[in-house]
Amino acid sequence: MQVLVIGSGGREHALAWKAAQDNDVENVYVSPGNAGTALEEKVQNIEIDINDFAAIENFCVLKNIGLVIIGPEKPLVDGLSDFLQSKGIKTFGPSQAAAQLEGSKTFSKDFFIKYGIPTAGYSSFDDFETAKAHLEVVDYPTVVKADGLAAGKGVIICGNKDEASEALKNIFQDQAFGEAGNRVVIEDFLQGEEASFIAVVSKDKIVPLATSQDHKAVGEGDVGLNTGGMGAYSPAPIVDARMHQKILDEVMEPTMKGLINEGSPYLGFLYAGVMIHNGELKVLEFNCRFGDPETQPILLRLKSSLVQLCLYAIDDKLELYESEWDKRHSCGVVIASEGYPEKYLSNQEVEFQELHSDTMKLFHAGTTLENNKVMTSGGRVFCATALGSKFKRSSNCGIYFGTLRII
Ligand code: AMP
Ligand code: GLY
Repeated sequence: MQVLVIGSGGREHALAWKAAQDNDVENVYVSPGNAGTALEEKVQNIEIDINDFAAIENFCVLKNIGLVIIGPEKPLVDGLSDFLQSKGIKTFGPSQAAAQLEGSKTFSKDFFIKYGIPTAGYSSFDDFETAKAHLEVVDYPTVVKADGLAAGKGVIICGNKDEASEALKNIFQDQAFGEAGNRVVIEDFLQGEEASFIAVVSKDKIVPLATSQDHKAVGEGDVGLNTGGMGAYSPAPIVDARMHQKILDEVMEPTMKGLINEGSPYLGFLYAGVMIHNGELKVLEFNCRFGDPETQPILLRLKSSLVQLCLYAIDDKLELYESEWDKRHSCGVVIASEGYPEKYLSNQEVEFQELHSDTMKLFHAGTTLENNKVMTSGGRVFCATALGSKFKRSSNCGIYFGTLRII
């Protein structure tokens, strides 16, 4: 079978690497991919503009693609899954309507309230003045969020009224997030520990994946600006058996049923970011895709087939899938360009000697291959991922990959 993965990050390298492990899979194409996918066995990069849906369709027909996996949120929110499915191409990823769970914070918050899913109190605003007036009545810290997609950077935690006012000015007046900031959500600040609960959902069936937790702050010890995620591990000890069932009962089931009720049954990875405090939980956000970097440590633990999982979901046979997980712990540590998540240097050559081992994998993210040289092309450059009998052993992977140097 031929597989096409859409995207270019660490998540897509991990998806392509895992898909290529199936004996039935002859080739995995990645558009546009990165240096990691270019160097992977059975995997090759292709240049298609992912905004050009017709070009993607033509490629799928030409290569007889049996499965398309869409990695990032943008093409999902833009309707790529609907388009390819309407052409009879087996595509794993939610419809444009269901992807609104990530595409609009107001949509998702209203959905949570309608279906009784626990979440932080909020109000949403379409203009600066009304939003600013609301700052008089909230408790601090408060959380200001751009409504639309902002690559994980549209959430600002504000310690006082001045900071919140500045955040509103940035979003509404300076258009820091473009159209994504035409609407703003102001939300109660939640305390606790975060976890990522990611499942494959197909209409009325749910297959939870291994639990995970990512760390978003850029600095060592969870300090500094928020990023897309600087590392993740699996399993997440905070999600014990009781919490696992609670998330399924209070979040995943009502979401799955709510989407059916709205006429938009889900197909794809569904990611709930939850805040856990004193044994209770609240949903921070939904993502309509696999997490990055959570995908990397989660897929290192997945022993059963990813391709089969996606195909069963598409064919409405998810009940047949038997997931098998490595019992060990896995951890992925992100190596980023200096300056990330603010301004960073790009196009730097990377010198490294990759270690080949069953328990370690270096996933690429912002890299390109030029004249056989690996060059940096993004903020998050690699995710060094490893398995270990204990969490501490797997998190030492940063040391094992010590021969990697951005020059
Ligand atoms: P979101 O894109 O909504 O998940 O927000 C990104 C990150 O901002 C989350 O993973 C949290 O770390 C933080 N965050 C978002 N909303 C809140 C909140 N209501 N209270 C505290 N932290 C939050
Ligand atoms: N790691 C957070 C995300 O994928 O949104």
